[in-house]
Amino acid sequence: MYVCICNALTETQVTRAIEKGCRTPKDVYKTCGTQPQCGRCMETMSNMLDRATGEAVLRPGE
Ligand code: FES
Repeated sequence: MYVCICNALTETQVTRAIEKGCRTPKDVYKTCGTQPQCGRCMETMSNMLDRATGEAVLRPGE
């Protein structure tokens, strides 16, 4: 499944970037050799980072 359509980044690629130590979407883009474009993937990427790092932020209504 694609996480970032603009850069054709898959869930697997983002997961690997996180495993390599990425802790922000900016880190993920850089590690994958890409740059953010429309930004629609930021929320999904942030959620993946939160889950992977165990630093999930409690948001009202969730
Ligand atoms: S979907 Fe990721 S920058 Fe557009």
